[in-house]
Amino acid sequence: MLKGKHILLGVTGGIAAYKTANLASMLVKQHADVHVIMTKNAQQIISPVVFEALTGNKVVDDVFCRDSGYQVAHIAMAQEADVVMIAPASANIIAKLANGIADDMLSTTMLAVTAPVYLVPAMNTHMLEHPATQANLARLKTYGYHMVEPASGFLACGDTGRGKMPEADELIEYLLYEAAYSKDLSGKKVLITAGPTREAVDPVRFLTNHSTGKMGYALAKNAARRGAQTVLVTGPVSLPAPLYTTVVPVTTAQEMYEAVDAHFDSQDLVIMSAAVADYRPRHVAAEKIKKKDSTSVLELERTADILANMSKRKNGQFLCGFSMETEHMLENSRAKLEKKNLDMIVANSLRMEGAGFGTDTNIITMITKNEVRQLEKMSKDAAAQAVFDEILRLL
Ligand code: CTP
Repeated sequence: MLKGKHILLGVTGGIAAYKTANLASMLVKQHADVHVIMTKNAQQIISPVVFEALTGNKVVDDVFCRDSGYQVAHIAMAQEADVVMIAPASANIIAKLANGIADDMLSTTMLAVTAPVYLVPAMNTHMLEHPATQANLARLKTYGYHMVEPASGFLACGDTGRGKMPEADELIEYLLYEAAYSKDLSGKKVLITAGPTREAVDPVRFLTNHSTGKMGYALAKNAARRGAQTVLVTGPVSLPAPLYTTVVPVTTAQEMYEAVDAHFDSQDLVIMSAAVADYRPRHVAAEKIKKKDSTSVLELERTADILANMSKRKNGQFLCGFSMETEHMLENSRAKLEKKNLDMIVANSLRMEGAGFGTDTNIITMITKNEVRQLEKMSKDAAAQAVFDEILRLL
């Protein structure tokens, strides 16, 4: 995803520097060309050899280094970067950047950088909350630096609090967002639903399904990375919120109905990938449960059809549904496309290995009025990319 992209990592002297090695490795796996500048203090924590072995590029730590491979290293490295991340960013580098100080390779290079910069502050809570650090961070924001908020937790110094560096899999999301995608959905408002819904039977039990939300979250991530203004209405799942996405958590089908309804008018496209529970216990049943009449526990009624309601209210929006079938996938999906008046339905068969709930892969078939396109087995991220490519083709 990052083929042909130059990523410059700045590593300063924080214990979390070891996590940056993992980040470098993940970036290389995404085919990025990764270059690393370390401060002298960073090298007390982790050897440059680690980064050199992982990236295949020489780590530069000195403005006057004669074997960096560059003619004027700090200018060349600044200019070739598509995006820069300083992780961990110590209080010292933050202070230097905020004041334009250029007294080592990293701070000097940073003055010449014109690409987007992500700072990942990581330090002891008191150092982070010191008014000097806070003032420097505030100033850097006005200079256009992007901040990755420090996490809270147990810190290397033994304290517990804010200042922990997020893990590499979280940090890479910012770099993918910045550099991996063309912003071909920019200006579009996209609403995606994901996950299962839950319908309470009583205060302890509920009806639900096996959806883990992976496909919907992959769609939301893809939309946001491609520049869409993205709203994700999600049932209960255990996935991290995608970056730059407005997440609206819901539990029941009715809550999902209301959340989608509230956002619908302003959207350009809506994708219902949630596995909405089709049935819920009847209200009367719940009353009977209270009276301990357990014979009525599973008296069910249908939940309101969210997508069908959207198609009635449609006002220029592109509507895409999902269908998960155990048999007659094409026929059943086509029938839903028609019945719910959709622009597209993405079908997958629960009978195929590598498709459906819980897996990281999917085998999707995109169906419109005039076309059927079956794709091979691919990651849910790649399937999400294919869905938006197809929608952009149809818009
Ligand atoms: N859907 C919805 N509201 C519901 C049920 C489903 O919006 N109450 C949406 C799903 O998110 C999906 C599409 O409708 O995008 C098809 O869902 P599915 O459950 O396969 O279809 P149903 O119409 O419920 O038909 P059935 O369950 O009988 O197969």
